Amino acid sequence: MRIAAIIVAAGRGERLGGEDGPKQYLRLAGKSILARSMAAFLDHERIDRIQPVIHAGDDGLYRRQTLPHEKLLAPVAGGATRQHSVLAGLTALCGDPPDIVLIHDAARPFLRPALIDRLLDGVKAGTGAAPGLALTDSLKRVNREKRVAATVDRDLLFSVQTPQAFIFAEILKAHEAAAKSGETRLSDDCAVAERAGLAVTIVEGDPSNIKITTRRDLESARQWLSARPDVRTGQGYDVHRLVPGDKITLCGLELPHSASLEGHSDADVGLHALTDALLGAIGEGDIGSHFPPSDPKWKDASSQIFLHRAASLVRQCGGEITHLDVTLICETPKIGPHRQAMRERIAGVVGVETARVSVKATTNEGVGFVGRKEGIAALATATVIFDGFRHDE
Ligand code: CTP
Ligand code: MG
Repeated sequence: MRIAAIIVAAGRGERLGGEDGPKQYLRLAGKSILARSMAAFLDHERIDRIQPVIHAGDDGLYRRQTLPHEKLLAPVAGGATRQHSVLAGLTALCGDPPDIVLIHDAARPFLRPALIDRLLDGVKAGTGAAPGLALTDSLKRVNREKRVAATVDRDLLFSVQTPQAFIFAEILKAHEAAAKSGETRLSDDCAVAERAGLAVTIVEGDPSNIKITTRRDLESARQWLSARPDVRTGQGYDVHRLVPGDKITLCGLELPHSASLEGHSDADVGLHALTDALLGAIGEGDIGSHFPPSDPKWKDASSQIFLHRAASLVRQCGGEITHLDVTLICETPKIGPHRQAMRERIAGVVGVETARVSVKATTNEGVGFVGRKEGIAALATATVIFDGFRHDE
């Protein structure tokens, strides 16, 4: 079963207003609304492709706010209404049509994989699936003077979210028929399906899966994310043996020395400990699993590559690196004179301010292998903050 997702992101966000550009490119806790609305599909093993639909001319914005991914197709241009934009996405998938398509608003950044599963379980031939929320307020139908004309039976009403799931060929045909008849303003794909006589089942929606429509929605989303910070720490430890030589690399700096550090790469114990600390904060294994010493590619490699890669992985997981602390344990060289340059080098590689990097050093008081100058060790801690949106809740 081949399953694609279309993310419609070609709207202008007029109800949100403001000079900051279309709402889907605004950031919520460091990550764009668009990137967030894609994340559940990127992570979901049943989804094999994602087709973004953007406004013609938004390519630069799009590239700045999303990361390339093997599942992500090149964006196509949308149209004047949401209905046009969805049809553009469906048409773009026609060359290699999927069996099922999920159609999602870029303006809904809090989609969870569990909702995707409920939709995929609900969709079948002749029947689409849409997430619905039961209403809790009493509902009134009013006349033009805003006088209550009737109380409406709430049990038969749902407010409907995206994504909505359909058999690809069926929804494509329904959209083409709607467009042909001159219909342009159907506000969701359920309405397009209904018009074509397709059935749509309501599956349980997710109250967190809100659409950012007004400035108030944006503010409450920001508040909600920042009110529940999820702070994680990772630790790292490394040792390299000292062998005859005349220079060492420590925390990204090459220093003249009476010995050299032995290793497959440049043997930078400080950066290795920091790399492990970052990987530890996201539970992504260790430096050896990402950059095996058995791989000739890493022979004499600069450890700055490892650290940079670990920092990118943290960000891909939605983490923000808030602090790094490394302690070098060596009898010589003296680290004090190089401390500031080391902090700056690490900060540059990781992409954080220097104030968020600490470099410390201690001797081992002549004790043990460090004391006998047989090797240099390093300990590191990384602090990473994730925002309050958890996929698995
Ligand atoms: N959308 C689209 N093409 C359009 C209009 C809307 O792709 N011509 C997308 C939006 O980018 C959004 C989703 O459809 O992800 C739902 O639309 P809505 O919340 O109405 O967003 P906007 O149209 O951008 O906002 P507004 O109506 O306030 O201008
Ligand atoms: Mg709109």
